[in-house]
Amino acid sequence: MSYQEMTQPGSAPGVGTASASIADVRFEHRRDALGIGTAEPRLSWIVATKASGWRQGGYEIEAYGPDNDLREQTGRVESDQSVLVPWPFAPLASREPRTIRIRAWAADRQPSAWSSLTPVEAGLLHADDWTARFVTPDWDEDTAAPQRPSPLLRRVFDVRAGVTHARLYVTALGVFEAQLNGVAVGDHVLDPGWTSYNHRLRYQTFDVTDLLREGSNAMGAMLGDGWFRGRLGFGGGRRNIYGDRLALLAQLEIAYGDGTTDCIVTDESWHAARGPILASSIYDGETYDARLERDGWSTAGHDDGDWAGVRAIGRDLSTLVAPAGPPVRRTEEVAPVAISASPSGRTIVDFGQNLVGWVRLTVQGEAGQTITLRHAEVLENGELGTRPLRHAEATDRYTLRGGETETWEPRFTFHGFRYAEVNGWPGELRADDLRAVVVHSDMERTGWFECSDGLINRLHANVVWGMRGNFLDVPTDCPQRDERLGWTGDIQVFSPTATFLYDTAGFLQSWLADLAAEQQEHGVVPFVVPTVMPESNPPAAAWGDAAVVVPWVLYQRYGDTDILAQQFDSMRAWVELLAKIAGERHLWDQGFQFGDWLDPSAPPDNPADARTSPQIVATAYFAHAAELVGQAAGVLGRVEDEAHYRALAARVRKAFAHEYVTPAGRLLSDATTAYALALEFGLLPDAAQRQHAAERLVALIRESGYHISTGFVGTPLICDALCRTGNYRAAFRLLFQRENPSWLYPVTMGATTIWERWDSMLPDGSINPGEMTSFNHYALGAVADWMHRTIGGLAPAAPGYRSIEVRPRPGGSITQAAARHRTPYGMAECAWTIEAGEFQMTVVVPPNTTARVTLPGSDVAPIEVGSGTHRWSYAYQDPEARPPLTIDSTVGDLIDDAGAWEVVMNTIARLAPRVPFIRRIIQGQSSSSLREVLATVPNAGEVGAAIESTLAALGH
Ligand code: BGC
Repeated sequence: MSYQEMTQPGSAPGVGTASASIADVRFEHRRDALGIGTAEPRLSWIVATKASGWRQGGYEIEAYGPDNDLREQTGRVESDQSVLVPWPFAPLASREPRTIRIRAWAADRQPSAWSSLTPVEAGLLHADDWTARFVTPDWDEDTAAPQRPSPLLRRVFDVRAGVTHARLYVTALGVFEAQLNGVAVGDHVLDPGWTSYNHRLRYQTFDVTDLLREGSNAMGAMLGDGWFRGRLGFGGGRRNIYGDRLALLAQLEIAYGDGTTDCIVTDESWHAARGPILASSIYDGETYDARLERDGWSTAGHDDGDWAGVRAIGRDLSTLVAPAGPPVRRTEEVAPVAISASPSGRTIVDFGQNLVGWVRLTVQGEAGQTITLRHAEVLENGELGTRPLRHAEATDRYTLRGGETETWEPRFTFHGFRYAEVNGWPGELRADDLRAVVVHSDMERTGWFECSDGLINRLHANVVWGMRGNFLDVPTDCPQRDERLGWTGDIQVFSPTATFLYDTAGFLQSWLADLAAEQQEHGVVPFVVPTVMPESNPPAAAWGDAAVVVPWVLYQRYGDTDILAQQFDSMRAWVELLAKIAGERHLWDQGFQFGDWLDPSAPPDNPADARTSPQIVATAYFAHAAELVGQAAGVLGRVEDEAHYRALAARVRKAFAHEYVTPAGRLLSDATTAYALALEFGLLPDAAQRQHAAERLVALIRESGYHISTGFVGTPLICDALCRTGNYRAAFRLLFQRENPSWLYPVTMGATTIWERWDSMLPDGSINPGEMTSFNHYALGAVADWMHRTIGGLAPAAPGYRSIEVRPRPGGSITQAAARHRTPYGMAECAWTIEAGEFQMTVVVPPNTTARVTLPGSDVAPIEVGSGTHRWSYAYQDPEARPPLTIDSTVGDLIDDAGAWEVVMNTIARLAPRVPFIRRIIQGQSSSSLREVLATVPNAGEVGAAIESTLAALGH
């Protein structure tokens, strides 16, 4: 057997002799750095080279002004840093543009080619850069009315000859679409998104140079209720949470070749009118009457003689912030896969994929005809299953203006749906008339996974779709019912998965800034951020811990220490609050908790009724959070804080062990989530206790017949807890389970997203009667992070993947798998196959990083490699292989093998159908032989013989 690495075609031997170029230059976490919100944006670059073992020895950065004049240069800087390098030049002033180019030297002093010139431009960095004022239509409104029309605002202005460039800085109280001369500005939707508006309101910067023309121009905006004053929250929710008047803030700055500028701003010279949007609501949908359209309303020629005026409203402009992450955009269109009539005769369109966005329609018909689109994620008895939407109407209405073909899509709402019911369509509805438009924050995709098992691939695809639907400006719990809120617990558990699949750094950095602001205001981390609750909530473990865990995950995955620094006060304040509650006993065992939410054994009407006690969850998370704050302090060089919080964590761990762990290692909640927490958070003091806890964990999982038995808290940890203790086989067996409850059960039921409950849809096709029954919740999809690291074999070994842990572990029936991740240093990849007893693996390591590669199924020590493509191939035997299974095997060994266990269960069900409870009895006796246990079955002889022969036939 040889474990020699195979030589690579195309990869140059030695260090840095092949050519290198700079493939990508970024500022902060933005893909596009127009209107960046900091004077000193950090720089990152990716080196492209085929050289193996490429390490950066130095770099050089040049900054050019608008006339391509070299302004500043660093000269060669000796440094191996290429990610989030501090801005080396004079701080940018508001509006100041630079183009930057970078080159890098390998350790052996070969320079790369220069990067292309990459622009960066500061936004309006100070409140007093704004001369615009927020303006609102000058009319009275019934602020309590459930439906309020969307106003249009406009103004006409002149543009002189010789424009060099123009920028529109714009935001709203509400959501907006800006237009210039009849054209929508940019390609964003639902701007300015949702932040904790009272603390932080985003503005956007658009390059509108090409939309202006010499002479008379017009600028306009359409406003919608959005999150600002629309209804938000469950149980009927609340309106006007942030205010009851919609308003626009726009500042158009036009620069001319002669050095002069014009500035057109929102002020009292603007006009306002009601437009065709009669009502818009995030939850309820949009109502649009095309007969009320004002033709050319944002062009200079429009007659606005009947428009009302506007009035300015006061607002602290220091709350304005530039975006840290990407805007929301339309990212894909999906055509219907079927149009059919429901049993009650309604027209139902199936888009084949549960998605988030809206439907665009193209129609011709009589003026005044109204088309209604109702949305739902699933069908029940062939009709739209809208009960899970609770108080969200999710209905769009479009009234035709008549005449020519009309194309329409809503602007100020979104729906989570796979099916739409279409009423009032003139004539026959054809598939070409409708498109589902997928909408979410336009983050860059950075992670991929696939393997030889189709169901696992669909599970992974469902995780990706679940993330797309729930990363709509805020990381939400679900996108369809009367919530769509930034539930802290959900993103706390999902953030490791999210950071692999997409570049979420800017998106989550912004959300964490909201979290910190609201935590400071309320003295506690709100359940949801931005908060919509009228009162402060009590602290809740695993939910409020988002304050600590999410920044730590971002640091691990993106190597961004500034995020830790920005969030440190928030992280610390959370742990300080817990320390106060726990007091000298160091136990958080009082007060409200969600606990291991949605444990599959919890009844539909009580999702918090879990097998693991909420106190165990709370104190375990307290220890974990204190430890992470200590580690973060260490990264930030806060020596005293580091010592303090690590000591606190040690005291909490001790208290946990004293209170909840028996000397032998059993936990007071003898439940899988409790063991997973204790093992993963290092809460068991000695090796014997850890060993015993791991055995107990496996025993419980076996007793459950390898059905999942964890909720929101245990699910992200369970496979890691098993693998950490060497129980790979059990982790894969759990992953491959198809019966309810399991990860694959929804896949077998046709799920195209991750469900909130293990059984949001029951095996008979009916919808779970519980209130918490969404079909698009990412939390339980957190297992994908384990899949990426363990099956795919890619994990960060140092922050930002500066060094990479490549340790794939084949399991289950998987014979091939591949994971790819665009790390901050470039693409990393691990792909393996097992064929004819041979294991082959290809590993791609990005430039300026190293990897530690563990060859599975071999006894070779981990191998350190540098950048480049590496391949290994060697004879492979399944390290978990076991002797053939017979009726004299133990029940435990039989349960561990999915195929063998299916034989046992099916045979019993067929030959001893009157003892349905036997399954549970057998599952509980894992150390006895099946022959012994079968003695309790009436016709044991016949059952045993049938099992014996089927196992033999299957080759067991
Ligand atoms: C949400 C969850 C959330 C939970 C809090 C639900 O309504 O949809 O995902 O974390 O409440 O327990």
